Amino acid sequence: MTNAPVKKVPIHLQSSQNRLLIKNGRVINDDGMEDADVYIEDGIIKQVGRNLIIPGGTRTIDATGKLVMPGGIDPHTHLELEMMGAKTADDFYKGTKAAVAGGTTTIIDFVLPNKGQSLLEAYANWRQKADNKVCCDYALHVGVTWWSPSVKKEMEQLVAEHGVNSFKMFMAYKDAWMLEDYELMVAMEACAELRALAQVHAENGNIIARNTEKLLEAGVTGPEGHQLSRDEEVEAEAVNRACVIANQANSPLYIVHMMSKSAVKALRIARSRQRPPVYGETLAATVGTDGTHYKNACFRHAAAHVLSPPLRPDPSTPEAIVQALADDDLQVIASDNCTFNEKEKELGKTNFTKIPNGVNGVEDRMAILWQKAVNTGIMDPCRFVSVTSTTAARIFNLWPQKGRIAVNSDADVVVWDPRLERTISAATHHHAVDFNIFEGQHVVGSPQYVIVNGRVCLDDGNLRVVEGLGKYLKTPPNCPYIYGEERSRSPQMENLEIPVTPSKITNGTPTHDS
Ligand code: URP
Ligand code: ZN
Ligand code: ZN
Ligand code: ZN
Repeated sequence: MTNAPVKKVPIHLQSSQNRLLIKNGRVINDDGMEDADVYIEDGIIKQVGRNLIIPGGTRTIDATGKLVMPGGIDPHTHLELEMMGAKTADDFYKGTKAAVAGGTTTIIDFVLPNKGQSLLEAYANWRQKADNKVCCDYALHVGVTWWSPSVKKEMEQLVAEHGVNSFKMFMAYKDAWMLEDYELMVAMEACAELRALAQVHAENGNIIARNTEKLLEAGVTGPEGHQLSRDEEVEAEAVNRACVIANQANSPLYIVHMMSKSAVKALRIARSRQRPPVYGETLAATVGTDGTHYKNACFRHAAAHVLSPPLRPDPSTPEAIVQALADDDLQVIASDNCTFNEKEKELGKTNFTKIPNGVNGVEDRMAILWQKAVNTGIMDPCRFVSVTSTTAARIFNLWPQKGRIAVNSDADVVVWDPRLERTISAATHHHAVDFNIFEGQHVVGSPQYVIVNGRVCLDDGNLRVVEGLGKYLKTPPNCPYIYGEERSRSPQMENLEIPVTPSKITNGTPTHDS
């Protein structure tokens, strides 16, 4: 990137603390665990094992009784997003600061162009917002919020020149970002041709529009109308349709923010029959709270929980979603962090369709999942690492630079204390937003140290992030996890033929672009 702004990190901060030893911990990767020390130099993991030979003057962190895990990867955030006439409270500084506090060391945010806006222009705008502010590394997905031949050309350029390997299409937000099925199929074909990954927001936008008219006519204007206008079936239908269209387009697919048991069921059926792979992402919100809050008499409280697809009133949803993550019916947990203050949520005081959509989660995602999944015995720590970090790294082609504790991987490391107890609250969180959907929840297990590119940014509980420390990560197309050997080995992938345009495709490792 030639127009990337100069980093604000002072030289003395860049060169200090360049050697670090994490001793006596239990190293957890997605495929196994071992008792090992981890030696870090200049932002890279240099040695993993016992009886390491370490240079003098190296800082040592004693991780006895602690778990040493790859830093979390949250592949779904919206920082500094303008949406529905409002701007998110968390910008790229506060949002990534909150991320690091919770053990997440890489985020992937969404560039969301307005209808008719150049995708390249929107991308450049996101880089400008983020580059000088991020406290951890970040990558970008780009939204395909409208369709024309020029959009396809820009997608090509984003892949070839700007390190974008994933595009999000919306089946909801009619008259704003929604694509019709024809456009969706063409966009997915473009993704497959570019060997990028198609992502969808799966809800039936036309049904939502009609249900909304009926609800408003009947006088239902409060936040409870949000979930009533878009129940589980409306999500599950779109999941199934997205999978059918992706199969017809011969395109791999990643379904973002899956919120219901019905949606997961539709995905499970599609995954068993589909030739190109389909992946499902759920959210910390889905696991950590539920849709009963929409009935809260306090507008502020109910509106703070409004996101799309909505939280489900079925109280068995959170545990079923945790189980789906454990069983590989879902592959990734993200946050969809998209925070609006009370003042913004009040835009929808007399009409639920005007409540800006979004909740917090980037800070509490890992602790919430640990509490609901590991402490309950549903998931082991390896699977926890898989769904919070490694699988996202693999899918978005950041692995093994990210998502792994191994020699030559980036030193993005969490020293996790499984006994650390805290109560989540807006009064103590690091977000800029004035509400926390997990308010009052007691969690056991949280990060004690968080190391971002070799720098100790959470130091025995003290948060010391550096604004601008993070780098933009280019994500190459033609990801081997999706398009490569591993894919063709899977029986359901046999006979798959995907058009290749070799001139545009490189299969390198991700690079930092600073
Ligand atoms: O309600 C949500 N999910 N807000 C963010 C935009 C989106 O659809 O991901
Ligand atoms: Zn969405
Ligand atoms: Zn309240
Ligand atoms: Zn989102």
